[in-house]
Amino acid sequence: MQTISNEPLNTVMLSSSPEDIEKAAEIIRNGGLVGMPTETVYGLAADALNGKAVSKIFKAKGRPGDNPLIVHVAAFEDIEKYNLVKKIPQGAKILADKYWPGPLTIIMEKSDIIPDEVSAGLDTVAVRIPSHKSAAALIRAAGTPIAAPSANLSGSPSPTTAQHVMNDMKGRIEAIIDGGECSVGVESTVITLAGEKPRLLRPGGVTLEQLREALGEVEMDDAVLHKLKDGVKAASPGMKYKHYAPKAEVVIIKGSSKAYIDYVNSHDDENTAALCWEEDIKDLKCKTLSMGKEKDQESQAHRLFDELREIDNDESIKKVFARCPSIQGIGLAVYNRLIRAAGFEVIDLEKI
Ligand code: TXA
Ligand code: MG
Repeated sequence: MQTISNEPLNTVMLSSSPEDIEKAAEIIRNGGLVGMPTETVYGLAADALNGKAVSKIFKAKGRPGDNPLIVHVAAFEDIEKYNLVKKIPQGAKILADKYWPGPLTIIMEKSDIIPDEVSAGLDTVAVRIPSHKSAAALIRAAGTPIAAPSANLSGSPSPTTAQHVMNDMKGRIEAIIDGGECSVGVESTVITLAGEKPRLLRPGGVTLEQLREALGEVEMDDAVLHKLKDGVKAASPGMKYKHYAPKAEVVIIKGSSKAYIDYVNSHDDENTAALCWEEDIKDLKCKTLSMGKEKDQESQAHRLFDELREIDNDESIKKVFARCPSIQGIGLAVYNRLIRAAGFEVIDLEKI
């Protein structure tokens, strides 16, 4: 298999057929990289127990070495089978029963089997069981846990189609499995059970409300809603990096439909676009990108990253006025991603 070199690879697009899954599994077993569909976003998969293979992920993405990766397994039993953690906390069993397989990642104390490349020097490991059939099939066929961050170049929106992965990773990885559009559309919820109290580090498809119903008290890390203050250590290293930022300036506009539409219509020019709800489109004068329906937060999560990529595809767009999502349910995940895309710039029309 190829060593880490600068020669571009011939990136092949595979289907989800058993034969193609087997081809992808062989690439993983041989220490290569595969774009893997999951229900959240596409992942960039490597053998999690092979440090050298994992280090290729960081190179392909341009990812800082201090940002740890999620380890994906196919079944709860695999956590013990592969001896991934020191101890499975009771809370993990409760959450697993309700939400695995699915868009939830649980951080636990790691065992010595986890390569440093995966945990980036931390004494914990993040574990997830994806529900996407092709992901489960690939993990089983590879016969090893799979480390996978989102399959985008660092700083770009996470990929929600195989074509997004191809756009970012062509020449950098061996293959991509086309498993269709990701159903959830934002990355998994990340909760740590390695501290004194359960703490939400990243909101996602399993909501804070659901976590609290299952576990009782769950703290929310400051980095979920706010910019980390200078000098504060990030509980989840990924939160400290600038994320998902399109080239155009994005500003979140908070307020009613009417206030938003009036504001955008009085501040637009030929370089402006509105990232808005479907219902707003008919009243806006500038270019529009729909994030879904106002009351349908699942559709907002499903569309967000594709729309952020669209902004970069249209060079004429220099400024984007985005509607502010509600932070209930999966809306918290949409807000968390959007506010990073906006560099934390929010105009609150109710306070003007
Ligand atoms: O939905 C997902 O989670 C996707 C799919 C492919 O599974 N993966 C994904 O991985 O979003 P990534 O690497 O893009 O995001 C993982 C986040 C990062 O913010 C990272 O810092 C954090 O989880 N993380 C991973 N291991 C951690 C650990 N041991 N302690 C704290 N944070 C951790
Ligand atoms: Mg990512």
